[in-house]
This record gives sequence, C-alpha cells and structure tokens, in this order.
Amino acid sequence: MQSLRTHRCGDLRKEHVGQTVTVCGWMDTKRDRGGVVFILLRDVAGKVQLTFADEHNKALVERTKEARGEFVLRATGKVNLRAEDNRTKTMSTGDVEIIVDDFEILNTAVTPAIEVRDDLKCDPELRLKHRFIDLRRRPMQAMLQARAKAISAARQVLDGEGFIEIETPILYKRTPEGARDFIVPSRAYQGQFYALPQSPQLFKQLCMISGLDRYYQIARCFRDEDKRADRQPEFTQIDIEVSFPTRDTVMALFERVIANIVNSLRDDPRFADQAWPVRKSAGLTPPFERMTYEQAMADYSIDRPDLRSRELKLTDLTQWAKGCSFNAFKGAAATGLVKGLRCPGMAEQFSTGQLKNLERDAKGMGAGGLANLKVTAAGLDGAIAKFFPEAEQKALIAAFGAQPGDLLFICAHAKEKVTHAVMHNLRLHVAERLGLNDPSKFAVAWVIDFPLFEYREEDRKLFASHHPFTLAQNLPRVQEMAAISRKGTGEDPMDRLLAGGVKLEEVLALRNNQYDLVVNGVEIAGGSIRMHRTDAQADVFELIGISQEEASKKFGFLLSALSHGAPPHGGIASGVDRLIMLLLGLDNIQDVIAFPKSATGRDLMIDTPNEVEPALLKDLAISVQKNEQ
Ligand code: AMO
Repeated sequence: MQSLRTHRCGDLRKEHVGQTVTVCGWMDTKRDRGGVVFILLRDVAGKVQLTFADEHNKALVERTKEARGEFVLRATGKVNLRAEDNRTKTMSTGDVEIIVDDFEILNTAVTPAIEVRDDLKCDPELRLKHRFIDLRRRPMQAMLQARAKAISAARQVLDGEGFIEIETPILYKRTPEGARDFIVPSRAYQGQFYALPQSPQLFKQLCMISGLDRYYQIARCFRDEDKRADRQPEFTQIDIEVSFPTRDTVMALFERVIANIVNSLRDDPRFADQAWPVRKSAGLTPPFERMTYEQAMADYSIDRPDLRSRELKLTDLTQWAKGCSFNAFKGAAATGLVKGLRCPGMAEQFSTGQLKNLERDAKGMGAGGLANLKVTAAGLDGAIAKFFPEAEQKALIAAFGAQPGDLLFICAHAKEKVTHAVMHNLRLHVAERLGLNDPSKFAVAWVIDFPLFEYREEDRKLFASHHPFTLAQNLPRVQEMAAISRKGTGEDPMDRLLAGGVKLEEVLALRNNQYDLVVNGVEIAGGSIRMHRTDAQADVFELIGISQEEASKKFGFLLSALSHGAPPHGGIASGVDRLIMLLLGLDNIQDVIAFPKSATGRDLMIDTPNEVEPALLKDLAISVQKNEQ
C-alpha cells in the first residue's frame, strides 16, 4: 500500500536493523538526556523509540523542542540494535531504535483532556466525552481489533456454509419484542412513525419465506430499556436464520460459529500481550452441554446458570417445609417455594456481619429473611434451630446431604420469583468466596425447553416467554387451548382458559423450541425454531391476547407471508457486545463499543439527544410538551 511511511512503528524488530525506514505516528513521550533526545512514537501497531543525538545531527536535536505530546510526526532514519542493557523488554520493538536523520511535524495537537496511557484511571464520562482520544489507548484499540476479529470469524463459518449477508431495514415498524421502541417521525406522513428494529426478527423470517435459505447479518438493534452495565440502547447481533432446520441444526451451526470466534481470539498473535480471559482459556470444543430450563431453575434458580460453580446446587425444601414446625417456612411453602444452599465446610467462614449483609440483600429483593444454620455433630445450630425438633433437623440434614461443618442457607417465600432471585444471588456470592468464578474458565451450556408462556399476575396476562414467533412443542394442545379461549367470554385469554377448565399450571407447563447459549452465567445468544403456519401463529397471538384485528394491523405482513408457503425455519442471534465483554473480561458494555452511549443514554462526545430547530418540528407536525419530572 502506497503510503507516507515504509513501516508501522510497532512492527520494527531485530530483522530490520540496518534498514532505513520512515515511520509516522503520535508523540507519546519525550525524554531529554542532554545531547540525546528520545521520543516514543506510537501508532496502531505499537511504539518505537526515535533517537536524536547531538553527535549524529545537532540541529535535529534542537528541532525536537518543537515536538509536544500527541503531535503527529514523520521520521526517517536507520534501525539500530540497542545495546544489551538498553533494551526494553516490555515493548515489542524494545530491541531496536531509529537513529533519526530527519523528521517533520505533520500536525500539532492541543493538550488532550485525558492521557493516552494504557492504565488510565479517570471519570468514565470524561473518557466518553473525549472518545477519539480514549480510542488511541492500546487496550481500546486491541478491543476493537478483537471485536472485528470475532465478527470476521463468525463470517468465516457462515460464508463457508453458504449463508448470505442480507441487510434489513432500519426504518421499521413497532412490534412487541419486549422492550420499548425508538420511534422516528415521518415527514411525508404527518403523525405517523417508523420504529427502529429491536432485532431483524421478522425480516429474517421473511427472507426464509422468500426462499433465501440461509441468512445472516451483523445487525444493529435498538431497544429503549432501563440501563444496565450489560445493556446499550443500540447494540449489535450476529443474526442467523436457516430454512428446513431441526433444533439441532441451528445449535450445531452456532456452536461452530462461537467456537471459531473464541479459538481465533485465543490464538491470534496480535493479542499476545493481552491478559484477556480468552487468551488464558482452553478454547471451546463442540458439542456443548444441554440443560433444560426446569433443571436450571431447580439446581440454580436461574435460566442462565453460571456453571463454573456447578457443584453448588440448590435444594428444594418445599415438601420438608410444608410439614415443619416453623410457621414462616410452613406458610411460604403452602403456596410458594422454599430453597436451600449447602455451603460445604463453611460453617465458620462467615462473620456475623457478613451473614447480616446477606440477609439485608435478601430483604432488598423482597424476602422476609435469609436463614442460616450450622451443621454440627449434634444437629443444627443457629437462631432458628430451636424451631425444629430433632426429627425435622435430621430430615433437613438428609435433604441437603449435609455434613458437620457445613453452613446451610434457607429462603422461603410465597412468591417463587423472590426465592429464586435470593438463592441465585446467594449462590453467586458463595461461588465468588470459594474462588470458583475464574473468568478464563468458560462454562458453556445450552438451556432448552423454556416455557412457552409467562404469566404476569399484575396484568393477569400471558406473554410469550421468548417472542411470539417461537414454535410451541405441543402444538395440538396449544391449538385446543386457543379454540377454548376463542369460544370463551372473559376479558383476558387466561380468564377464558380458566373458565374453560384449563389450569394455569398446565398453560405454564407448555414448552417452546427456544434455545439460549449461556457462558459463565451470561446469555450470549438466543434463538428458536419458528412458527411457520398461519393458524399456529394466530393461535399463539390469541393466547397472548393479541386480537385478530390487532394481529392483522401489526403483523398482517407476516401472517400474509406465512400463508404463502412458509418453509419450516429457525435461527439464533448473539449479542456481540456481551460476548466480547465476557471474552475480554470487561464488566461494562461501554468498553467494547467504539462510540457508546453513557449510562444515561447520551452520546457525550457529539452531545445527543438534542433539541432540533422549530422549523424541522413544524415540517413533521410535531409540538413538544415536556412531562413534569
Ligand atoms: P434476544 O432478544 O434474546 O433475541 O437477543 C439476542 C441477544 O442479544 C443480546 N442483547 C443485548 N445486548 C446488549 N444490549 C441489549 N440491550 C441487549 N438485548 C439483547 C443478548 C441476547 O442473547 N430476534 C431474537 C433472536 C432469535 O430468535 O433469532 C432476539 O433478538 O446477548
């Protein structure tokens, strides 16, 4: 490539000694040693030492005074092998230096608001505000290189399997995918709005109906959700859809994609200096373990269990609690869930203060408390031990499979959700204390057989637990239920089902064809086999309370397309940002995106969202009335 330089700074090595080279880059540091000046010049490949010596060229040494931090320089000189005791082991170019014959200042620079150093510690908002400087730092550049590599590794597998990349619209339509939409007003159709896609879900299904067979896209998705450290309002998915698959087809394909991503990041010599978990990991080898949703909830109280601590399993104590003498447990067990965690040999490892803190956390999640009991040779010891006669203590110890020296935690609540949340949180805490959360160990598992529906008591409504386009496992029964709901007269489908003799438990026991890939407790991908028949799709809409009229208004295009000979199809999407966070051991999603939004959803660098000119609003027929905060 024709260029202003012959080499990149960071590429120079012993083999270049004796060559005359020209390099370009930013001045990192300058040291004046009286008669000798050293400048570290930095570019994307690394840093190299430029040496200016009086004895070589006095005028040039004088001119180095003009160069300041972050100035853009171009230097020409001979590569020299540094004396043995002057070599810098920590720099890839540390064996050599360039004895400069000439240099020019390509551009000056004002003093940046943040320092360009690998170990920069400063206000995260300052970094976002000056992102173009932040991205000059090596960890950020390495992250972007890794991200690009991950995407190209995915493309490599998918291109190799005959998938084609198809772009789908960004100006889209509101659909119920869980989150709130970002909307874009139309000028041509005043009072009407596009919505930005939460994912290309329906378009990829349409591609299958068009006979395109194998689709993928590195797709930008937009969701207006409450902020979290692993969420961004716009994020990227590796999005895949395939025709005529079985569930195994998609899972096996995605296993190859993810294994290629992980293994190629692990092995890329460009990242040799990075301490990322993926560099220390053993890589991934398909096929991956599979676990049902039911198993995951039973053992770990979460549908995305962190299996690095797989041995820390929870115990369901509901049956035991129903017959126990402690009213708080007994009452909760009557309608809810009682679960326990056995911490092997940890009876003496929690201070009273630590136990109190854990209980405080549990209360913060809605629990009445978090009981703890020590197992001794004589039985149980602890504040609530006195409530349990000997036989109950023995039964409890047996249910846990506990030994003297163990610590037992128990949470009981009338709402299953609360018990699950408390026990999941507790398990993560105990795993951390036991040192089981090594970030470079990738515990990968598929979670399958999710419930088809969730029931939200507050709204008395059923919701699709994945999205409403996921194929049900027991379709004939779903269709029977939809028929019962259609015939009924209650306001909500669930009321109509109950009136028609269908129990809530039966509805909640229905399973779908969803599969989620979980790594170290993070859901990095999710997908499903879809409903490809109009009648089945209409039945699911019926059960989640989307009327025929509403369905045809919102999804008329999909229902029409399904009726034109839709093939069986299914797919998956992986959140690239979350995946990179995990592989690189970062805990904030902002650190894996070139130009992210802040924690409050602003782009602090370009300062948006912002107000627009009144004339523009007038064109759009929009007037702004701010809500009271
Ligand atoms: P889902 O909604 O599960 O499925 O999303 C797939 C993956 O996207 C990532 N993700 C996010 N990453 C960052 N910020 C967010 N706000 C965010 N929300 C989701 C997660 C998740 O696993 N159309 C379906 C996929 C399919 O069925 O094929 C979908 O979007 O890593």
